[in-house]
Amino acid sequence: MSAHPLTIGVAGLGTVGGGVLKLLADNADVVAARAGRPIVVTAVSARDRSRDRGLNTAGLRWYDDAAALAGDPGVDVVVELIGGSEGPARDLVEAALRAGKPVVTANKALLALRGAELAQLAGTTPLAFEAAVAGGIPAIKALREGLAANNITRVAGILNGTCNYILTTMREQGREFADVLAEAQKLGYAESDPSFDIDGIDAAHKLTILAALAFGRPVDFSAVHVEGIREVSALDFQMAEDLGYRIKLLGIAERTEAGISTRVHPCMVPQAAPIARVDGVFNAVEVVGDQCGRVVLQGRGAGAGPTASAVVADLIDIARGRHTPVWGAPLAAAPSVPMARHTGCYYLRLMVVDRPGVIADVTGVLRDNSISLESMLQRGRAPGEAVPVVLTTHECEEAGMRAAIARIEALAAVMEKPALIRIEPA
Ligand SMILES: NC(=O)c1ccc[n+]([C@@H]2O[C@H](COP(=O)([O-])OP(=O)(O)OC[C@H]3O[C@@H](n4cnc5c(N)ncnc54)[C@H](OP(=O)(O)O)[C@@H]3O)[C@@H](O)[C@H]2O)c1
Repeated sequence: MSAHPLTIGVAGLGTVGGGVLKLLADNADVVAARAGRPIVVTAVSARDRSRDRGLNTAGLRWYDDAAALAGDPGVDVVVELIGGSEGPARDLVEAALRAGKPVVTANKALLALRGAELAQLAGTTPLAFEAAVAGGIPAIKALREGLAANNITRVAGILNGTCNYILTTMREQGREFADVLAEAQKLGYAESDPSFDIDGIDAAHKLTILAALAFGRPVDFSAVHVEGIREVSALDFQMAEDLGYRIKLLGIAERTEAGISTRVHPCMVPQAAPIARVDGVFNAVEVVGDQCGRVVLQGRGAGAGPTASAVVADLIDIARGRHTPVWGAPLAAAPSVPMARHTGCYYLRLMVVDRPGVIADVTGVLRDNSISLESMLQRGRAPGEAVPVVLTTHECEEAGMRAAIARIEALAAVMEKPALIRIEPA
């Protein structure tokens, strides 16, 4: 083992930054053995120097300006754990890459929105981001290295632990979304402003990164169709159970003949599908390759330990001199398939007045849009009152389904906005 340590500067001493300092102290021996030399923190940056973080920062150089870490000659590698696609995180990463210093980051927003230009700036300097997708699950390494020999056709995953926790609790306890979200906020599983998570944006950032790695197309966050989980109701969970499905927020990237589709939205997945059983705060990533078939990885997608585990794995690679291009290969533009062209099966729940002829009106609209029904379920009877009616369809095109829903919603007997959830194959 070399006695010459790899020195690192850590910007951001919150959940992840604190976790990295702790892991490097707790597992110093195993990390040094695998890195071939010790990995030593020499400098740090955060906003509030006086905060008690429960960390031993004695003897470490402190920078109020995170970007100054890049110019510290006693820092070999910059670790960015501040977060955000602009501001201090971006300034630091750019300053470090300009100075030719390797960067390790957990920042999915930065990678999803600025990943192409950062890769260009990096050139042959390592820019590593295992922690940016699915926390402790080595999804990036699996795609970029372990499965590198495959033509990948699909990457799908449960990419946001907050959403998976909320959906799992709604199913297990038969509770409504708003009620479970409020509890998750109290327990610290959801932020006080939860929109980034529950509106699917965080999952879309991660999917953008996975799609670039899987398909070699430039990161393009704007191409991702994004829907969150606010509109999923307790009733949909009951219906899903009866139909043999679980409801999950999935990020799905697929290569089709028409191009690459990337979408994040609630899905009905068959109860027997491996991803259907990934519950609570856990994440999962599923990759389908032409040679390897389906590979499913699951584990903790967030938290100090799992995320630090991924950050330090990147540091070990850098210490060993193991390095692949930022996106695994040069990126080449590929057409994106708009959501209107998506084809799949659909779950549609309507609240309709229980009176003769209503179902015939609804099925007439579906027929006019070339949509064929797979099943129909009506719960209870209450003449003259609203009752739920659930329809599942055979494969059809999203544009036709949207047109049908607009007409169904306008029917006098339809009392609420129809609920639509896409059905994914096992
Ligand atoms: N939390 C997770 O489980 C998780 C999982 C995967 C990826 N990530 C990613 O990891 C990154 C960090 O997340 P986190 O949860 O650790 O965030 P966090 O707990 O909010 O910590 C952010 C840290 O950045 C520091 N900071 C903010 N502005 C700064 C500035 N201008 N200069 C220097 N330091 C500054 C803060 O300083 P103060 O402490 O002084 O306020 C704090 O220590 C984000 O990109 C996030 O998306 C997090």
